[in-house]
Amino acid sequence: MTHWPVHGHIDGAIVMIGFGSIGKGTLPLIERHFTFDKKHLVVIDPNDKDRKILDDAGIRFLHLGLTKDNYREVLTPLLTAGKGQGFCVNLSVDTSSVAIMELTREIGSLYIDTVIEPWTGFYFDKNLGPEARTNYALRESMLAARRASEGGPTAVSTCGANPGMVSWFVKQALVNLAHDTGDTAVEPSTKAEWAALAQRLGVKGIHIAERDTQRAKSPKPQGVFVNTWSVEGFLSEGLQPAELGWGTHEKWMPENAQTHKQGCGAAIFINQPGANTRVRSWTPTAQAQFGFLVTHNESISISDYYSVKDASGKAVYRPTCHYAYHPCNDAVLSLHEMFGQAAKMQEKHHILGESEILDGIDELGVLLFGHKKNAYWYGSQLSVEETRRIAPNQNATGLQVTSAVLAGMVWALENPNCGIVEADEMDYKRCLQVQMPYLGPVVGVYTDWTPLKDRPGFFPEYIDTSDAWQFRNILVR
Ligand SMILES: NC(=O)c1ccc[n+]([C@@H]2O[C@H](COP(=O)([O-])OP(=O)(O)OC[C@H]3O[C@@H](n4cnc5c(N)ncnc54)[C@H](O)[C@@H]3O)[C@@H](O)[C@H]2O)c1
Repeated sequence: MTHWPVHGHIDGAIVMIGFGSIGKGTLPLIERHFTFDKKHLVVIDPNDKDRKILDDAGIRFLHLGLTKDNYREVLTPLLTAGKGQGFCVNLSVDTSSVAIMELTREIGSLYIDTVIEPWTGFYFDKNLGPEARTNYALRESMLAARRASEGGPTAVSTCGANPGMVSWFVKQALVNLAHDTGDTAVEPSTKAEWAALAQRLGVKGIHIAERDTQRAKSPKPQGVFVNTWSVEGFLSEGLQPAELGWGTHEKWMPENAQTHKQGCGAAIFINQPGANTRVRSWTPTAQAQFGFLVTHNESISISDYYSVKDASGKAVYRPTCHYAYHPCNDAVLSLHEMFGQAAKMQEKHHILGESEILDGIDELGVLLFGHKKNAYWYGSQLSVEETRRIAPNQNATGLQVTSAVLAGMVWALENPNCGIVEADEMDYKRCLQVQMPYLGPVVGVYTDWTPLKDRPGFFPEYIDTSDAWQFRNILVR
């Protein structure tokens, strides 16, 4: 596209927290797609390694880290400096999303983030215990903030690629599946109608099925954790317990899994790190593959959103939902190295910039399974080559995230009084319309694959042949 559309005018200040791989990629999209007063754009980060990009562009940089003690006094004057409504774009690690979104709503600013991030220390606090370190617990803290103050300035929670964009993909995939199976009902417009559609179509489960084939030009050195996005972010979530939205069709649960006594009740967690928990899944390029069951907010929010409950509040239909992530090969090697040393993290971390990548795509989509046509993958196959052509400062993984942030910002500007929302609750068509030019080929593919295909092999296996789509068949044991 040579003429990029301007999607809106931001008439207040823009405060971007965090200038890491996602911040650096989001900034040029903000500059491209919004008009705003540049003197009220400020970027905050305790690390100034990339400040030259900001200095060259004449953008103000605040070289500091936000903490529990300083965030109010730092953010309040910055966000209220412009003429109109401020916009806080939180793309950092180690800052509390809930605390910051509560502040922005108090002072009348818009807010967006890509993950429910806690203050520093949470992820690696051994005293907390596994349940308290789940994304379920983090999401419940966001839901409590929403219950405490409904409506008001829009704060978009967890709106990156996943969590975020994949929730819009689920809706598009359901609409496509309804069309292809002859379900002619009017497209749903409420949560209850969407859940009823998923139930009617017989969707037993949804994988966020991803294959990152981006290859580095230089091989991974020993002792370095290499990834295509935040190493810190990946290590944090990878060492949380594995978590999944828990479907009503499931007949078996791992012995070390637990349900939650409080909250929405849509998910379970397994007492082992997600990045060391493998599941069987499928993407168009990889075909059958192992992915890691890393915990993510969308695993819980999607299962919660598509729950159908009876009058007593008991779920009578809910799809299983979880991440099945095959990161880039260097990240797989990095995990192998780390878990081989009892999860002792490598001291050196490296995020592959686009210039360090030889080739590859980030194939990220949703696999809806268990229905009449078996399984359907719908998603983006963005390559690093196309990314280079259309957006600066990022690789393919980054652009899927930053373009979702852009879409979420556009939606928030157009819907400024919706309170705290998750991607499942936003207008998926509008968001995908904004994001599509950045996603490369977006395809829908049916497959006859199931997790029982070609099994058992040489050895007996603990499988359930009565229903291929049981989690028992998906989990690698
Ligand atoms: N939803 C998604 O699809 C998705 C995808 C990728 C990343 N993410 C999330 O986005 C966030 C950013 O990812 P990234 O790849 O840019 O990470 P990154 O590690 O490259 O950058 C994070 C930045 O935050 C800064 N930071 C650390 N402490 C801070 C503090 N106290 N105050 C302000 N800034 C601070 C760091 O210095 C760093 O520059 C992470 O939370 C990550 O989990 C979400």
